[in-house]
Amino acid sequence: MNEQSVLRVSNVTKTYSFRTPLLERLATKGTKSTALTALDGINLELRKGEILALVGESGSGKSTLAKILVGSIAASSGEITHNGSAMPAHRTKDLTRSIQMVFQDPYSSLNPRISVGSMLAELLLLHKIVPRREVRQESIRLLNRVGMDEDALDAYPSQFSGGQRQRIAIARALAVRPDVLIADEPVSALDVSVQATILDLFASLRDELGLTILFVAHNLAVVQHLSQRVAVMYLGRIVEVAETAELFANPRHPYTRALIASIPRMTAGSVSTELILSGEPPSPFEIPNGCRFHPRCPFATIACTENDPALLPLARRGGDADLPYHASACLLADALPQSTSSPARTGASAHPSQSHGNSQEAL
Ligand SMILES: Nc1ncnc2c1ncn2[C@@H]1O[C@H](COP(=O)(O)OP(=O)(O)OP(=O)(O)O)[C@@H](O)[C@H]1O
Ligand code: SF4
Ligand SMILES: [Mg+2]
Repeated sequence: MNEQSVLRVSNVTKTYSFRTPLLERLATKGTKSTALTALDGINLELRKGEILALVGESGSGKSTLAKILVGSIAASSGEITHNGSAMPAHRTKDLTRSIQMVFQDPYSSLNPRISVGSMLAELLLLHKIVPRREVRQESIRLLNRVGMDEDALDAYPSQFSGGQRQRIAIARALAVRPDVLIADEPVSALDVSVQATILDLFASLRDELGLTILFVAHNLAVVQHLSQRVAVMYLGRIVEVAETAELFANPRHPYTRALIASIPRMTAGSVSTELILSGEPPSPFEIPNGCRFHPRCPFATIACTENDPALLPLARRGGDADLPYHASACLLADALPQSTSSPARTGASAHPSQSHGNSQEAL
């Protein structure tokens, strides 16, 4: 284990089983899958003091992983360690305290009937963070920390804007002095003008409090200037992990390239959003054989339909300790052509004959 790992996720899976009516089972002769694979062997570490961005399309499993990390749902299999110790299925009060979640929707995540002061006081007393006589002072300190003032203590959630409610939700998470924040799309429900201020707040929590943050986002653009590392998720797997600058400069998975290429760019006064991927992600009920990305991949070869690539460090990095860790779950990771603003869609040059030791035949 990396000495700096606060959380380490090893081979974590999550499946949901559904009952199918008897008639449907008979009609499909039992061939239709009744199990949905939300997570399919996740390996990931969260390092002390970093903001790790977790990015991927809707349905890729980001929230499922976030909920497993905070203990609100259980994994089907696999292990999670916290500071090197395996986390029990039923979290202790101390573990619950140390890993806190900030949700996407600040409107529904706060109880509308409880004032901000009462909400913070309840938590501070329940977790014995400060003695009763210091609760008010500590609550004010928390509000100041997230950019709000004392007046908020007597107000109710409905009296605040979306951005202010998200600040209050962050104060609530901070109240119990966690060492990890799991933030599940905390800015996607906010106006664009407010998003940047909340992103700045997360950056300051890392810089000034040394918090470790897993920041979930749909969109790479949101995390480009916030996170130290990025993990890209596709259909229940991590398909690429790298330091943020390295990931943008040298993406080594075609899916990451498509995400980067679809970031809106200002071109001669207009905004262009290039859509690289065709179609929706395959159903999590029927994950494609081989590389799960192959039905949408512009570089796919026959080998990609037969081999399921593991998340491996780039081979050409070898043992060079000076280069940042960069891993990809693509058979062609080391051989993909240099990335431009948009990945090549066709052409023999996109299908080099050797990579990760596989001989590839173009589809
Ligand atoms: N409680 C549940 N029961 C059954 N299926 C579920 C449940 N929760 C999530 N899923 C399924 O698991 C898969 C992953 O869902 P998840 O919410 O983790 O995706 P996500 O990446 O967070 O998506 P989004 O960006 O839309 O929030 C999806 O196919 C989803 O439908
Ligand atoms: S393994 Fe093949 S299909 Fe999968 S991402 Fe790489 S090139 Fe594309
Ligand atoms: Mg989600």
